[in-house]
Amino acid sequence: GSETVALRQLMPPELLERSRTCPFDPAPGLEQRRGQGPVQPLELGNGARAWLVTGFAEAREVLADPRFSSDRIRYRDATQMQPHEAAELASAAERGEPVRPAPIESRTDGMFIFMDPPEHTRLRRLLTGQFTVRRMKALESRVTEIAVEHIEAMKAAGTEADLVPAYALPIPSLVICELLGVDYAQRDAFQENTAVALSSTATDEQRARAGGELYAFIAQLIAAKRANPADDLLSGLVHDADPPLTDAQLIDLALVLLGAGHETTANMLALGTFALLDNPEQLAALRADPGLIDQAVEELLRYLSIIQLGVTRIATESVTVGGVRIPAGATVVIAVPEINRDSRRWSDPDRLDLRRERTAHLAFGHGVHQCLGQQLARIEMRIGYTELFTRLPNLRLATPAEEVPLRNDMLIFGVHSLPVTWA
Ligand code: HEM
Repeated sequence: GSETVALRQLMPPELLERSRTCPFDPAPGLEQRRGQGPVQPLELGNGARAWLVTGFAEAREVLADPRFSSDRIRYRDATQMQPHEAAELASAAERGEPVRPAPIESRTDGMFIFMDPPEHTRLRRLLTGQFTVRRMKALESRVTEIAVEHIEAMKAAGTEADLVPAYALPIPSLVICELLGVDYAQRDAFQENTAVALSSTATDEQRARAGGELYAFIAQLIAAKRANPADDLLSGLVHDADPPLTDAQLIDLALVLLGAGHETTANMLALGTFALLDNPEQLAALRADPGLIDQAVEELLRYLSIIQLGVTRIATESVTVGGVRIPAGATVVIAVPEINRDSRRWSDPDRLDLRRERTAHLAFGHGVHQCLGQQLARIEMRIGYTELFTRLPNLRLATPAEEVPLRNDMLIFGVHSLPVTWA
């Protein structure tokens, strides 16, 4: 599917060649590069030359530096290029040509995750203004209800389930329904289309159809919120922005929330559960001291990272990081999974240790684009793991750990399914 193509372009062949053998450690290709310095040259799958950042301090430097852009519309992102474009870019760089941004005066879309300040700043502020303490508190009790309902449904249906469709996918999907104010009657269709749009087994055609339906659905939802504002984030965005946002911007904002908030959280829930089941002494520590949960969530975020390879930026001018010169126009891959195992920052970084002293990790990124939904993601994980392990005290894997299918083929890592039993 298109995701595999995107991943193949992004991932240098040597990084993709060997699939993960340990479901929790960074891809073997990334691990192989350990000890080669915090900033390394990298050849992408499409032949483009890029740079790989594996050091924690260097990653924060890049992510805080406005000379590195997130704007893939203005600047050419090598991970999105066809091989011939990658070759053209390389020869332009060799000739020392400066990067010329595409001549766009102002962006009219709402894909703020791919924007730079000041365009990014306005949209980001509008959104953060909607993530109020009161709204987060209300969502917290809804997350609990949603988690409990799904566990009870699993129990009512027998003593075995696939935790991915039964628990990990619906929780963040329903939370986004709450945020956007999707009617209860329409939630099944919304969830179904989201699942197909993100599925690795659906055909390109099925995915495109589901994506089209989601788009149309969100457009209708915005029209409904314009007519009848309710107490949800989308209504807030529709009515609070001055000057008002266009429909195109609002649709993009909703799609960014869905795109950034669903698959990530779902895979943290499933892979995090898998990691705890596979480390029984750690799970026992959490069961013995439920107060450990906040620390456990942070350690799971660090240990698993969830992003397959990393987040990317484009150098708008030549910049030296960690003693290495990154030329103008170069694409930089911030290797989040490796960075979260940086031994200069964590002792014994490859060990899952819920009692580890808390040190900031990079799982939510850094700088102006740092995850906007992190507070909500933490709520979903804290409640998601707690309810699961409390209500299913005998929870364990229903297949050998080696047989759990891993998302080696996806931009967001995790498991395709997680068969569990609680008999
Ligand atoms: C951005 C990770 C959950 C909304 C990001 C970024 C990372 C990240 C690494 C930075 C991307 C970059 O710098 O290019 C995660 C992880 C999650 C999670 C690991 C789950 C465990 C969520 C949730 C939401 C959300 C639940 C909202 C409902 C966003 C948004 C951005 C973002 C809107 C873009 C922010 C911006 O560009 O200013 N996330 N995220 N995320 N995340 Fe999350």
